[in-house]
Amino acid sequence: MIADFHEDPAPGTGRRAPRADFVSDAPRLSLNGQWRFRLSGTAAGTGPGLPDPGLDDSAWDTIRVPSHWVLEGHDKPLYTNTAYPFPIDPPYLPDDNPTGDYRLRFDLPDGWPAARDVLRFQGVDSCGTVWLNGELLGHSKGSRLPFEFDVTGRLRERGNVLAVRVHRWSSGSYLEDQDMWWLPGIFRDVELLSRPEGGIDDFTVHASYRDGTGTLLVTADAPGLVELPALGLAVPTGEQVTVPDVRPWSAEDPHLYRGTLRAAGETIELAVGFRTVEIAGGRLLVNGRPVLLRGVNRHEHDPDRGRALDRATMIRDIELMKRHNVNAVRTSHYPPHPEFLRLCDEYGLWVVDECDIETHGFIYSGWEGNPPAEPMWRDALLDRARRMVERDKNHPSVIIWSLGNESGSGAAFGEIEKWIRERDPTRPLHYERDPSYRHSDFYSLMYPAQDVLERIGQRKEDTPDGVEPGSPDDVRRRGLPFLLCEYAHAMGNGPGSLVDYQRILESYERFCGAFVWEWIDHGLAGYDELGRRYHRHGGDIDARPNGGRFCIDGLVFPDRTPSPGLLELRKAIEPVAMEVSGGELVVTNKYDFAALGHLAFRWFAETDGERGVSGTLSVPHCPARSSVRVPLPPVEPADEGETWLTVEAVLAGDARWAPAGHVVAFTQARLGNGTHRRRASGVTPATPSRQAEGELRLGAAVFDGRTGRLLRIGDLELDGPVLDVWRAPISNDHGIGGANDLAADWEAAGIDRFVHRTGGIERPDERTLVVRGRSGPATRTLGFRTAYTYRLRDDGTLHLRIDAEPVGDWDDTAYGHLTVRPPRMGARFALPGGYTDVTWFGLGPGESYVDSRAAARVGRFSGSIDALQTPYVVPQENGNHVETRWLEVSGPGLPTLRVDGEPYVDFTARRWTSEALRAARHPHDLTDSGRVWLNLDHGQQGIGSASCGPALPERHRLQVRPYTWSMTLAPVHP
Ligand code: GAL
Repeated sequence: MIADFHEDPAPGTGRRAPRADFVSDAPRLSLNGQWRFRLSGTAAGTGPGLPDPGLDDSAWDTIRVPSHWVLEGHDKPLYTNTAYPFPIDPPYLPDDNPTGDYRLRFDLPDGWPAARDVLRFQGVDSCGTVWLNGELLGHSKGSRLPFEFDVTGRLRERGNVLAVRVHRWSSGSYLEDQDMWWLPGIFRDVELLSRPEGGIDDFTVHASYRDGTGTLLVTADAPGLVELPALGLAVPTGEQVTVPDVRPWSAEDPHLYRGTLRAAGETIELAVGFRTVEIAGGRLLVNGRPVLLRGVNRHEHDPDRGRALDRATMIRDIELMKRHNVNAVRTSHYPPHPEFLRLCDEYGLWVVDECDIETHGFIYSGWEGNPPAEPMWRDALLDRARRMVERDKNHPSVIIWSLGNESGSGAAFGEIEKWIRERDPTRPLHYERDPSYRHSDFYSLMYPAQDVLERIGQRKEDTPDGVEPGSPDDVRRRGLPFLLCEYAHAMGNGPGSLVDYQRILESYERFCGAFVWEWIDHGLAGYDELGRRYHRHGGDIDARPNGGRFCIDGLVFPDRTPSPGLLELRKAIEPVAMEVSGGELVVTNKYDFAALGHLAFRWFAETDGERGVSGTLSVPHCPARSSVRVPLPPVEPADEGETWLTVEAVLAGDARWAPAGHVVAFTQARLGNGTHRRRASGVTPATPSRQAEGELRLGAAVFDGRTGRLLRIGDLELDGPVLDVWRAPISNDHGIGGANDLAADWEAAGIDRFVHRTGGIERPDERTLVVRGRSGPATRTLGFRTAYTYRLRDDGTLHLRIDAEPVGDWDDTAYGHLTVRPPRMGARFALPGGYTDVTWFGLGPGESYVDSRAAARVGRFSGSIDALQTPYVVPQENGNHVETRWLEVSGPGLPTLRVDGEPYVDFTARRWTSEALRAARHPHDLTDSGRVWLNLDHGQQGIGSASCGPALPERHRLQVRPYTWSMTLAPVHP
């Protein structure tokens, strides 16, 4: 028996039919603000008295609306990835069901017209039962979708009482198992709308484009006049017009014709974008041309407000996306606040609008009872699709409807498909999880490995499980364009290989786009005992089941600071590629529509990071998807030093989303064969001031006579090197669900706990000292035999060569067959804690790894050691710099340490060890150890994105083999 509305699978009662979201001059009263609120433990809430206008609620709490009560001091937020936080017992929910009772007393503003009145909720999680002045209006589920009640004749001028009962869990929760925080409450706007006599309640804009000509038809539920002044157009609803020489809408040129839809009683704002979306020849075309979506998956998230985003935050997201060359958004996994789509129309982003449907947790029942396959849920599922399409149908930015995410398959998807195709034949449909792809106009996958993607591009993919090879489904799918709805899992330090993925995506016509998972880390604000703010993930909440850290997988940190991953993405997807080839600069326009007229090209030369000549380039007309060749700027490589030419494509004028001068794309080319110069002055070390008993000397260098460790060079103190083959695991080193868990293998094999033995110290000649040793973990034979060879150079500097040769058994360990490989081949030094800054010539300014280094430029950079740390929400390896030619570590009153790579080293500098980094749960757990830990490494393995997706490609891993790397060390007294 279904006892209560909240357990009834029905989507709602008493609601008005869904319709378009629009802005008009009809009176509107926002009911956002402070409401009375009381939280109870069961679905009975505060009891039957809630709607009673006479109820004394003065002792209740107050809460702001919109918000989530779990972020306003009531109960707590929960995070799960795939798991339902309640038994799989559809459509029922446990008796413990936190229920928020809300009450608002409001008056009508003076002059509120006597017309029809509509009460609208833009989003209530997970469901709402609504009463006005004691009368039941109805119920609704579908958290991220609006619902309305007709309240005509039910309002008073003064003292209206609106009461809403919101259950944390409802039958709707079975359809909302997205990987995100469960955040109940009235979290989007509440509004009272006066619907005038002679107004328009719903309308549909059909604005298509072909070969320069637009076609416009606006249909509406009441007669009206469509006026678009820029086109000199005034046409009645229901009448189709052809508009010659129209400027089409695209994400690259989001041209909107603004105007009005005027009815007898109401004027509606129109923003018409002419565009046509179609699938032809196995490709996605917009306005007749193929497009490549360079996208991100965006959840609505704010560390303080959860999914109750304000407009400024939406704009911030869009500006950040546009500034990082992102041109598309998948609204994972539900329709966003309607204002976000209005902004996408204005700023220009392609949108895949996704329905609020995910039943992922049925994975734990073996998909038995999965709602899309059960007739009981048909209406609820269809209701969600209808409410999305009706609300969002007039946005030119929305080019694809997504039926939902990770909900297996079932007949309901067939019904949704049918309904949408009839209602809106102008947009293709996407659904990834049904292997037949019958209800999708795209073949689609998540997280394929690069070789799998390559085969998909060639339309030579393996037939999906459950599909008969050669069957009609198989044949049809092979003809479809491919949309990569999720890839490059951006959890923690990552993702790697963005450039490789982009190269594949740009190589085959079949690809129409890809969406990185995901835009933002879902960290929620927390404060430690000292009042310091940090970001909490699931693991910081005492609750089970718990998805832990898996919600921290975005390209921007919770506070929207771009992560190094976003900078890498910006470079990987830049819309202009530039390459020096055959003495010319080849400029390739990768836009789908725009020529390059909006960009200016500037260049400069640098030798060893010192600025030389500079200028601007004039680039001839270069239409979309074509290339031009431009003579190289007149730069002579310097006789000595490493000369680089940098060319930047920048915005020529202000754009809505970035000022003139914003760098859209860049390239660098090395000119000549010069290698970087050594420091000319100050490097000759002084004679060491002291040499204690048991110490050895080589020039100014002093070594521990027992361990052979370098202790000082002149007055510069340093302690090292120690062979360092481990890194504080990044999220991707843990893999997913037991797969690709390299970090666990390292720990099982002891890679994280090498101990060291000095075997002997040799003096083959006056100028040379060799320290031989062995490093490896307890309980194992595996390890490296090491030789640190120091040579005094003529200029007094100290040359260090490190040889490390594997010894013992790396394959077979007591834990079974582990093919363990070191994540790092490095040398760790400890410097006094007074060092504060690093200047280097190499790749920068941000961190770089072998598979994430495109965003870094060759140049000279400086930063404080503190600023070199990337504060990942979950502490992990960060701050590496590949291909460093030289670096100088300095601090007030201390001799500067100069290191010259031979030719390169990877460096990292931090105030804590990798072990401390590994142990920290939050950034504020990391405290100054009193020393600066400097790694001067041969290299590290790549970062990949194995926390959800394929293993780190072999080519980005280190091998168990001999390694040699060299550098020169010297103190500098400027
Ligand atoms: C996908 C899913 C996303 C997210 C991601 C991993 O399977 O669609 O919602 O869970 O994996 O972070």
